[in-house]
Amino acid sequence: MHDAILVTGVSSGIGLTTAAHLLDRGFHVYGSVRRGAGPEELTKEQRFSVVHFDVTDREAIRRGVEQIRTDGNRLVGVVNNAGVAISGPVETISEAEYHRQFEVNVFGLIAVTQETLPLLHEARETGFRPRIVNISSVSGYLTSPFTTLYSASKFAVEALTDGLRRELMTFGIDVISVAPGPVKTPIWSKGREQTEAFRNSRYGAMLEKLGPYTEAAEAAGIEPEVVAEAVYRALTDENPRPDVLVMKKSWMAKALALAPKRVQDKVFAKRLDQNRRY
Ligand SMILES: NC(=O)c1ccc[n+]([C@@H]2O[C@H](COP(=O)([O-])OP(=O)(O)OC[C@H]3O[C@@H](n4cnc5c(N)ncnc54)[C@H](OP(=O)(O)O)[C@@H]3O)[C@@H](O)[C@H]2O)c1
Repeated sequence: MHDAILVTGVSSGIGLTTAAHLLDRGFHVYGSVRRGAGPEELTKEQRFSVVHFDVTDREAIRRGVEQIRTDGNRLVGVVNNAGVAISGPVETISEAEYHRQFEVNVFGLIAVTQETLPLLHEARETGFRPRIVNISSVSGYLTSPFTTLYSASKFAVEALTDGLRRELMTFGIDVISVAPGPVKTPIWSKGREQTEAFRNSRYGAMLEKLGPYTEAAEAAGIEPEVVAEAVYRALTDENPRPDVLVMKKSWMAKALALAPKRVQDKVFAKRLDQNRRY
C-alpha cells in the first residue's frame, strides 16, 4: 500500500507539473484526464495511475474514485486543480460560457471533494492527517476587468476552502488554498481565443488593450514548478499556511486587496493602460 494523491486535470500546465513533482517525491499519483491515455511523462512512471473523468460528470468521478478504492492505496490528499478561465465582458459573455466557468471551477471542485472525502476520512482513521489543496488564484483575492467570471469562481473557491477547513477540522482533515498569480501554462492561449469573440462589441476598443495586457502578465508569470513545490509543501508541511499566494511581489496583491474599492478601481484602470495586470 502506498500513500496516494489525486490531482485533477493533469493533461497540461500546473496539474501535469504537480503530478510529476509529487511522483518525484515518492507519492503514488492518480491524475485525472478527460480523454486519451494521459501524458507520457506521467504514464511511464510505475507509481502513476490515470483516472478518466470530466469534473462536471458526477458518475465518471465516482468511477474514478472507485478505481482508487479498489487499488487499495491510501488516499492522503486531493489537489483540485482542473479549471478553465473564461474571459470577456460580463455584459456579452454567453450563458453557456458563464455556466461552464462555474460548472468546472466550483461545482466540479465540490463534486470531486464530496466523492473523495470518504477515502480521506478512512486515511485519517489510520493516523494520517489528510489534506485537500484547492488551486485558487490571485483572482480569488482581486477582480480584474474582463476576467470577472473567473474571479467570481475563484472567490467561491476561497470561500469553499475556508468553510470546508472549518467543517473538517474536527475530523483532522486540512483544506488549503494555493493561489498562483500568473503562471506560464496553456490557459492563457485558451483565454485569448475567447476574447477575440468580443472584438466587434462596444468593448472592442478596450479589448484591443487586453491582448498586450494578458501577454505582459503571462510573460512575467512564474514557472509551474514553483506552484508544484507550493502544493507539495501544502500537502506535507507540519503546519502549512491555509492560504498560500504564489506570485512575485505577493505583498502588493495582498495590500491592494485591502485597499478601498475606488482605489483598486484606479489601480486597475491605470495598469490596463500600461499593459500591466498587478
Ligand atoms: N496559469 C495561470 O496563470 C493560473 C493562475 C492562477 C490559477 N490557475 C489555476 O490553475 C489551474 C490549472 O490551470 P493551468 O494554468 O495549468 O491551465 P491548463 O494548462 O489549461 O490546465 C487546465 C487543466 O484542467 C483540465 N480541465 C479543464 N476543464 C475540465 C473539466 N471539465 N473536467 C476535468 N478537467 C478539466 C484541463 O484538461 P483538458 O486538457 O481536458 O482541457 C487541464 O488538464 C486552474 O484551476 C487555474 O484556474 C492558473
